[in-house]
Amino acid sequence: MSTPNPRRQLKPTDVKRLNRTWRRNTEGRLALILESVTGPFNIGSIFRTAAAFGAETVWLAGNATPPTNPKAQKTALGTDRLVEWHEPVPVAEAVRAAREEGFRVVAVELTGDAVPLHEAKLGGDVCLVLGSEDHGCSPACLEAADSVAYIPQVGRVGSVNVAVAAAIAMAEARRQEWASPAG
Ligand SMILES: C[S@@+](CC[C@H](N)C(=O)[O-])C[C@H]1O[C@@H](n2cnc3c(N)ncnc32)[C@H](O)[C@@H]1O
Repeated sequence: MSTPNPRRQLKPTDVKRLNRTWRRNTEGRLALILESVTGPFNIGSIFRTAAAFGAETVWLAGNATPPTNPKAQKTALGTDRLVEWHEPVPVAEAVRAAREEGFRVVAVELTGDAVPLHEAKLGGDVCLVLGSEDHGCSPACLEAADSVAYIPQVGRVGSVNVAVAAAIAMAEARRQEWASPAG
């Protein structure tokens, strides 16, 4: 009998099993606030990543596009059903709601006082805030957040796409917990 080649793509049932193992080893709660993120493909993409990293809630703020938008579905691929989300409210209200649910609120933005993402404390129950494609996080949002973290960039670019920034930040939050489970 031949042994199965371990270097083959996992089958869907294998992936489900693998995800279950990581789920059992993940305690920190993760949430998002999306302030005036309007691009439907960005919204769909963020929801898919949020579902993959086990984010439990997304608060929409300002004029953010809801994931029910038909274009958002093209990138969400139905994963938005796995994440609780709330209709848009003013950003200060979304921050208050996240705090009431026990989250520390960390804005992901390039500000003068922001710390590099890999040095930011993202463990425990954390709600990450992403800003709009055009104007970034509003002053009201930055004022309301507990702290700010930025993604260091080496190339000559002003910023990365908001869905990419969300993915990097969620991955880093999970990485910090997995690298140091007690922290
Ligand atoms: C495309 S950026 C907004 C850029 C906008 N032109 C500005 O001047 O603020 C959209 C959002 O992505 C996130 N973002 C993008 N690049 C980032 C970085 N290097 N560090 C932290 N956040 C970033 C932030 O949440 C930002 O509000």
